[in-house]
Amino acid sequence: MGLMIKKILDDSKIKSFVDLTEVSKWQGRVSECHNRLHQDYGESRNDLMLGWLNLPVDYDKEEFERIKLAAEKIRNDSDILIVIGIGGSYLGARAVIEALGVYGGIKILFAGNNLSSRQMQNILGQMDGKEVSLNVISKSGTTTEPGVAFRILRSWMEKKYGDKAAERIYATTDRQKGALKNLADEKGYETFVVPDDIGGRYSVLTAVGMLPIAVAGLNIDELMAGAAEARENYLTDNLAENDAYVYAVYRNILYNSGKQIEILANYEPCLHFVGEWWKQLFGESEGKDGKGIFPASVDLTTDLHSMGQFIQDGNRILFETVLKIEEDEIEIKMQKQDDDADELNYLAGKTLEEVNSVAMEATKMAHVSGGVPVLGINLPQLDAYNLGYLIYFWEKACAMSGYLLGVNPFNQPGVEVYKKNMFKGLGKPGY
Ligand code: PA5
Repeated sequence: MGLMIKKILDDSKIKSFVDLTEVSKWQGRVSECHNRLHQDYGESRNDLMLGWLNLPVDYDKEEFERIKLAAEKIRNDSDILIVIGIGGSYLGARAVIEALGVYGGIKILFAGNNLSSRQMQNILGQMDGKEVSLNVISKSGTTTEPGVAFRILRSWMEKKYGDKAAERIYATTDRQKGALKNLADEKGYETFVVPDDIGGRYSVLTAVGMLPIAVAGLNIDELMAGAAEARENYLTDNLAENDAYVYAVYRNILYNSGKQIEILANYEPCLHFVGEWWKQLFGESEGKDGKGIFPASVDLTTDLHSMGQFIQDGNRILFETVLKIEEDEIEIKMQKQDDDADELNYLAGKTLEEVNSVAMEATKMAHVSGGVPVLGINLPQLDAYNLGYLIYFWEKACAMSGYLLGVNPFNQPGVEVYKKNMFKGLGKPGY
């Protein structure tokens, strides 16, 4: 018996939009891009920010153990960990933590991802009377939002803990340079590294994501093991065996046929931030040179009652990718009721999960009939291993998709423009 090929991409609903033989016609270009990607890794890994490619097997094991020790300490001495960061220094950790939950008595709050005083007041209110640790995450060390939040929260920490505040502040930043690195060295904070060759949106499996995730009580070994399996599975350029690349090809076929928006749909509210992370990954990687699919996301069935009309019936520039969790252990059964006043007895005996699944399948069919191509990503279970697998699946797919589109998926020249205007408005010296 041959080796089983693991597939998480479901293209069974796409047939009425894309001729399946079309996909294999892309094999030549895929092989070219694959070879370029892996060759680029060898030649210009740092310049092109390709460190994520082998990260699941080639990571700093010593630092990984330090992450676990720091996480253990934080879990023991804190009621709250505040994770300060934005964009690629924020979304991955939040996606994993919200998807999988937080275990033990600790609470994780996220700050520094906006400039809202209301939000800051709310966070300060929650800190009142609690034991707190901070993890400030910034590769550049100069990003305004986390910088502002850290200044405010650091003062609070210094007021409460005095000299001992430094023992509760963890800085994840560049190995050797930047304002945060200098401050951490001066104050004696424990530091973790944002590797030079990994961009923010690809950094969830580095200390950037792993420290907060470990503090949440989640198994970072499993997360990395899942990513390592995906890395191994997606080492081939053969489209028949690499569904990360097939996903990339479908995206390009659909884009070329006028589908300019991809909606990632989940049916589990806890996956909301997986959608946010995914939007940055694909949006920042592909949205350049006047090109790119605009990534959007919906939480279903919730948003069927708000965005459902547009998806079903609006401008036909959309396609949808549905993220499905195949096996859910939670069993909540609908009961029969004598009066049936709410007329839901027809659901008696079914689990909530079955109802959700039927809703998902019915919605997929409705969207297909409304002219929306639907792809599926079927995750066997929602756990650290499978989430690690999914993260790498998307990272590799995104790289291929960007190469096929003809852009550099690893830079983000466009994000500087608003900053210049903002600095000028705020009177930053030099602007
Ligand atoms: O992908 C990116 O480059 C951005 O989202 C950054 O991660 C974000 O701006 C935060 O940057 P930094 O880690 O330097 O504070």
